[in-house]
Amino acid sequence: MFKKAQVQLTLFYSILFLLLFWIFSFGLYFWMDHSFGERYISRVRQAQQQTGQHEGVFEDTKTAIVTIAGDVALDQLRDILLALNGAFILIIPTLSWFLAKKTLEPIVIAHEQQKQFVSDASHELKTPLSIMAGKMEVILKKDRTNRDYKQTIISNKEEVSRLTGLVESLLFLARDDQGKYVMQAEAVDLTDIINAVCAQLQHRIKDKNIAIHLRSTNDNLIVSGQEDLLQQLFFNLLDNAIKYTPSLGTVWVTLKKTKQAALVSIRDSGIGIPHPELKKVFDRFYRVDPARSSSKGYGLGLSIARTVVEKHKGKIEITSVEGKGTTVTVLLPYYESR
Ligand SMILES: Nc1ncnc2c1ncn2[C@@H]1O[C@H](COP(=O)(O)OP(=O)(O)O)[C@@H](O)[C@H]1O
Ligand SMILES: [Mg+2]
Repeated sequence: MFKKAQVQLTLFYSILFLLLFWIFSFGLYFWMDHSFGERYISRVRQAQQQTGQHEGVFEDTKTAIVTIAGDVALDQLRDILLALNGAFILIIPTLSWFLAKKTLEPIVIAHEQQKQFVSDASHELKTPLSIMAGKMEVILKKDRTNRDYKQTIISNKEEVSRLTGLVESLLFLARDDQGKYVMQAEAVDLTDIINAVCAQLQHRIKDKNIAIHLRSTNDNLIVSGQEDLLQQLFFNLLDNAIKYTPSLGTVWVTLKKTKQAALVSIRDSGIGIPHPELKKVFDRFYRVDPARSSSKGYGLGLSIARTVVEKHKGKIEITSVEGKGTTVTVLLPYYESR
């Protein structure tokens, strides 16, 4: 698909450059041909005036001199232009081929990423659907007790809610890719957001016996943003901190005021991330090693977090030491009232 585009683009560039050079060559040649005589005569006249020679001396020989000198110069120019054009017929298509390749490179990369995204998304959507279909087939094979039916419905309901979450995440990323997601920014208090997210995750924190240390500043941390998106951002980060920290571990949430931006850091005493993997954790569907955690995930949490931060013109950074823990730091610009 892209090879054909590269050939077409090479052809287009080659024709364009060769045409431009031909126009330049012909233009130069005809201009020289046209103006050489006049310029030559005016120079010789100038020289005569300076040396005080009589015009008549020049008049006698001018036609011969001008014709011979002009012809020699034009012949030389024609030879040079022909040689250059000959060389360019070989050089320009080769250059155009590489130029076309360079032009198409970002498009090829974006296309590959899109293809990978669609294939990963389809795979993730298919798995829970197959599980649900399988369970329903089994239960319908013969008469069952009400308890069996109820159990199948409950387990399918869980799969449906996971699927809904996945579809919502995919829709958000797809709409953002298309530039269709318009953010409704307002003044948002980050302390409120963090408290709401902690409350949302309360039962999981308790289940795993994780200690949460919230260190907050007395100042208000008001940023410009969309509340539900910011809630989603910190939910994803805190959810990871809890998910990848073994029972009885600790999570530190710090809210700080810095000169340019509000800072929130979420540090955990969990399993950490191996150094080479750190660059990839923001990629869509990337999970370090799905076997490391018993809970399921799609590997979209951090890509959504990064998208949300970028939409808010903020910064997100992750550092980690394997076996010791992970720290995610988010910087968000303050709200400025107009
Ligand atoms: N706090 C953390 N501690 C250890 N590993 C983490 C942490 N946060 C993220 N990761 C790693 O980064 C991967 C991507 O995270 P995320 O996009 O949230 O996906 P998910 O949580 O669904 O697996 C995770 O699968 C995990 O391997
Ligand atoms: Mg996650």
